[in-house]
Amino acid sequence: MINVNLNIVILAAGQGKRMNSQLPKVLHPISNKPMLQHVIETASQLNPNKIVIVYGHGGDKVRGAIDHIFTNNEIKWAFQDQQLGTGHALKCALSELSDNGMTLVLYGDVPLISYTTLNEMVLRFQSNLVMLTDVLNNPFGYGRIIRDEVNSICEIVEEKDTTMEQKLVNEINTGFCVFPNEHLAKWLNNLSNNNSQNEYYLTDVIAAAYKDKIDIISVKSPHNYEVMGVNNKLQLEELERIYQKNKANKLLESGVTLFDKNRIDLRGELTHGQDCAIDVNCIFDGIVTLGNNVSIGAGCILKNVKIADNVSIKPYSILEDATVASGSQIGPYARLRPGAELAENTHIGNFVEIKKSKVGMGSKVNHLTYIGDADIGAGCNIGAGTVTCNYDGKNKFKTTVGDNVFIGSGSMLVAPVILGSNSLIGAGSVITKDAPENELTVARVKQTTITGWKKRNSK
Ligand code: UD1
Ligand code: MG
Repeated sequence: MINVNLNIVILAAGQGKRMNSQLPKVLHPISNKPMLQHVIETASQLNPNKIVIVYGHGGDKVRGAIDHIFTNNEIKWAFQDQQLGTGHALKCALSELSDNGMTLVLYGDVPLISYTTLNEMVLRFQSNLVMLTDVLNNPFGYGRIIRDEVNSICEIVEEKDTTMEQKLVNEINTGFCVFPNEHLAKWLNNLSNNNSQNEYYLTDVIAAAYKDKIDIISVKSPHNYEVMGVNNKLQLEELERIYQKNKANKLLESGVTLFDKNRIDLRGELTHGQDCAIDVNCIFDGIVTLGNNVSIGAGCILKNVKIADNVSIKPYSILEDATVASGSQIGPYARLRPGAELAENTHIGNFVEIKKSKVGMGSKVNHLTYIGDADIGAGCNIGAGTVTCNYDGKNKFKTTVGDNVFIGSGSMLVAPVILGSNSLIGAGSVITKDAPENELTVARVKQTTITGWKKRNSK
């Protein structure tokens, strides 16, 4: 249900100079997904009545990357022409905000904030101001929380404006805050940029609220990483690793065996049954589904694949947009390309590439083979080095193989071509015409021996 009281503003106008990149900072990915998208997805879980993104640098790129993902009109954009500070940024979104209720401020470059933390902040809102704070051993660089004699928060002082005494305070402002809308416009309009950075600080709103006797409460961030921001590639990598470790921990908790939780990368959604085991250095991308009792060897990459029960994927295999039915064995060094559909108990061996093809139940394609645009029946044995010649330089053609066909090694199947069920193809054949059922077809030059041949004397 939509929380009609809740507006969310995501500040994302920063340039991110220190990323040294053409890509706007908030589009840099964590787990293959722009940081800003992570923040929007988390924000959406709170069911706000509106999400406003304040954007500026690389505006078109940012909107272009986000608008096509969130198409249901729930996102509004507010343009900040010049970056005059966080207070000015929020002011740019004012016209989109409701007169009453609350506004939660998030950051496009702080991607790992959790739903649980934000929800707690929202639940504690009662026409007051709810800040997310943290306590750090090294608070350098952050705005410090200043409390009055009865320990109430009364202001935030930015690092560059702190006194020697204030520098010692290690309770810091994370930036995440819930504001009461009824006062927000007044507070923002009264901000001044009379400070060391000549910026309109959003943090000065705290002192204004204190003056107006608005209750200011703090929620402590449960994990440091939730409030860690990204300014450079070093911090991006750090958050990527934290994100990955959290995902790996979840997999372990749900019963997957990981040989090393520090050596797995999940860049999408992985669902699984029981007794799956994943060896080191595997990458899972897109939507991957594993049945029960699936084992995945070292160095495999799986993207958008569906693997049924009792499948073994041996090391260094790459699978994309493919389905594998139960009991099959893949690899090592196999490549399943988009449209590969393997039936039960198939064997796909080393250096075999399968593209847009069906392989029937129990069929084996064990060595050094290319199968493209083919439909292979059940119980076939495709010999080493078989190639479906599916492309004439312009068009693709289909190869159809019936059931229980035996193809000798080194055969070229020049498509379009049909091999009937129970046919046998002699090794080294170049098959250009259909091969009938139940017969042996051989298409190669007959072997001859030149008797009496003598080696030429070399001078
Ligand atoms: C801010 C807080 C500081 C807090 C810290 C936490 C202020 C004045 N200070 O400092 O108290 O400890 O975050 O990380 O708010 N942005 C805009 N437009 C602007 C300026 C900033 O959209 O004109 C965006 C940035 O893209 C960024 C966010 O606001 O996502 C925060 O800005 P940043 O400059 O990083 O603020 P800090 O100096 O880190
Ligand atoms: Mg910052």
